[in-house]
Amino acid sequence: MSLFEQQTQHSGNAKALSVTHYGTEFMHMVYQNIAKVYDYTYGPTLHPGRIEALEKMRIRPGTHVLEVGVGTGINLGMYPRAARITGIDLSSRMLQKANQRIADKGLTNCDVMEMDATKMTFADDSFDVVYAPYVISVVPNPVAVAREMYRVCRPGGRVVILNHFKSANPLMSKIETAISPMTVHIGFKADLDLPGFLEQAGLSPVSLEKVNVPKIWTLITVVK
Ligand SMILES: C[S@@+](CC[C@H](N)C(=O)[O-])C[C@H]1O[C@@H](n2cnc3c(N)ncnc32)[C@H](O)[C@@H]1O
Repeated sequence: MSLFEQQTQHSGNAKALSVTHYGTEFMHMVYQNIAKVYDYTYGPTLHPGRIEALEKMRIRPGTHVLEVGVGTGINLGMYPRAARITGIDLSSRMLQKANQRIADKGLTNCDVMEMDATKMTFADDSFDVVYAPYVISVVPNPVAVAREMYRVCRPGGRVVILNHFKSANPLMSKIETAISPMTVHIGFKADLDLPGFLEQAGLSPVSLEKVNVPKIWTLITVVK
């Protein structure tokens, strides 16, 4: 992929979902660089949302979950031990931390691997739940990731996305749009358009819930 690929490469006339333009290699470099400090910087601040999302998902024993953008594995210890978890991420340094966490905590139900979420190597309909916590505003092409998530989810399974999207408040939305070209350097875009994303990804959620503190993150649940 080129360094400055467009967000809308899947549909030529589609509305841009963000003012930012960057490529997969750029974001890979950002996460390689912040892997050492990730748990201290993005750990506690985003943690209430992670807990709330997992509680709301009510994952049952035997469920096979794919966590997209598993990073340092910060969620791994929170899944029921009787569920099987596969995690993918682009950054080898983030995954090193995840593997360390799996070993330290004895999380024998968890496996992680290096993989680009826009080009998953899993077969169609492979997982019961496909979950992306704080990833969809990180990737340059969120629509491509959402389509892959849907493809690898089994019929009747759930695609779940936890993410911050551009505010509906006009002033906040202007601020988020203005800062987004800067925030990509610390790992995310601040101005991802939720209605446009759902429309372009072809997702029809069964629920959209506000989570985290303050409640400016959205938990999207889609049943395939
Ligand atoms: C903000 S972190 C989220 C980590 C974790 N899910 C959490 O709850 O904190 C975003 C993660 O997405 C990964 N990522 C970025 N682009 C990716 C891609 N194209 N495919 C897979 N993972 C990607 C990054 O390496 C990073 O680990």
